[in-house]
Amino acid sequence: MASRRLVTAAVVIRPPGDKSITHRALIVGGMLRTRVEVVHPLTSADARSSARVLRQLGVGVSRLRAGQRVLVQGAPWRQPAATLNCGNSGTTARLLVGALAGHALTARLTGDASLRRRPMRRVTEPLTLMGAQFREHGGDHLPLTIEGGRLHDLDYRTPVASAQIKSAILLAALAGHVRARVTEPGRSRDHTERLLRYLGLPIETDGTTVVLDARSFRPDEVEPFQLRVPGDPSSAAFLVGAVLSQKRGEVRIEHVGVNPTRTGFLNVLDRMGANIGRESLREEGGEPVADLVARAGPLSGTTVPGAEVPSLIDEVPILAVLAARAEGETRFCDVGELRVKESDRLALLTINLRAVGYRAEIVGDDLIVVGSEAPPAGRVETGGDHRMAMAFAVLGMAPGADVRLSEASSVGVSYPRFFEDLERIRAR
Ligand code: S3P
Repeated sequence: MASRRLVTAAVVIRPPGDKSITHRALIVGGMLRTRVEVVHPLTSADARSSARVLRQLGVGVSRLRAGQRVLVQGAPWRQPAATLNCGNSGTTARLLVGALAGHALTARLTGDASLRRRPMRRVTEPLTLMGAQFREHGGDHLPLTIEGGRLHDLDYRTPVASAQIKSAILLAALAGHVRARVTEPGRSRDHTERLLRYLGLPIETDGTTVVLDARSFRPDEVEPFQLRVPGDPSSAAFLVGAVLSQKRGEVRIEHVGVNPTRTGFLNVLDRMGANIGRESLREEGGEPVADLVARAGPLSGTTVPGAEVPSLIDEVPILAVLAARAEGETRFCDVGELRVKESDRLALLTINLRAVGYRAEIVGDDLIVVGSEAPPAGRVETGGDHRMAMAFAVLGMAPGADVRLSEASSVGVSYPRFFEDLERIRAR
């Protein structure tokens, strides 16, 4: 008689393509005079925002369809006939403003209600120093009009660690054929640097300083190339969170980007006692990639120091809900930047954790969450923020939970198949 195998195989999921890298592939690809084949791109609402505005500027971008490659045919940018609407995407708005700074044309940019609340001077100030001109129609916020043109070299210290500020300056330098040096107070994600280095551009990093010398860059001399986009670690974090929240099972998340400027959440979960393995480490398109294997297990509270925050800034919502289920207290230090994300995540996290029965408070720029075994129950206001919706949907997988979301469609911003993938983890 054949022996019966006890199958405890993990659910296997490939997360959507990395959002940050997809935006960069489309925007940088659109600045070159060549054809770029983007493999496994993110095809969500945010990625479509970048594709849409680039088409308005004369770049050829094929339709973004789930599971399909995208072709980008760069071209000289032309004056857009209408306002460039960046939708919900801060990365589209800020990186595009940077790239536009080095183009001799005038463009008006706007976004949805959430994006119109987010600060823009953090990018328009350094770009003004480089020689771009701006007309504000909403103070520090969109809409605004940019008039790009001849730029000068820049040596700049950013007030916050932000890859969007750094990338806006680097893309301005690339478009304007100048030299830029950017120093940050902490290390933000380095996908722009890696992509430019992958393309052979002279870009040097030293600690938190990056220097790009684009004075002899010729956009028409780049050969056609293919860029493979790793799975988004920020999306993978919710799947890891799902097995930890439901306290059973195992998930294998394939082809995840493990760039150290993005994987702070893995280090924090490791300190909290989680069991997450990295397998088959490899490199693609200048980015490290691995398969993650997460198994359920108990968690305990920890402290997340400010220096660690840039490497997990988008994962604070999922880490905060997991902290609510951990033993003891967790403190996230210096997370004031959460106030200017797709929603005021600092305020909403606190309000929502309390609404479902946990203790959470803001002290200065720190968020403190007190863990409890009580099942979460109550209504959550997502503020239309995709990461708020996904974090509390994951909390809703805790045994005995009764969590209701004010809306769930915002997940389409970064992870259109989120609820299907969550269901596969729940069903196993
Ligand atoms: C991003 C940078 C981060 C992050 C955002 C994506 C990027 O924003 O929160 O989701 O792709 O450069 P900041 O640069 O404002 O920290």
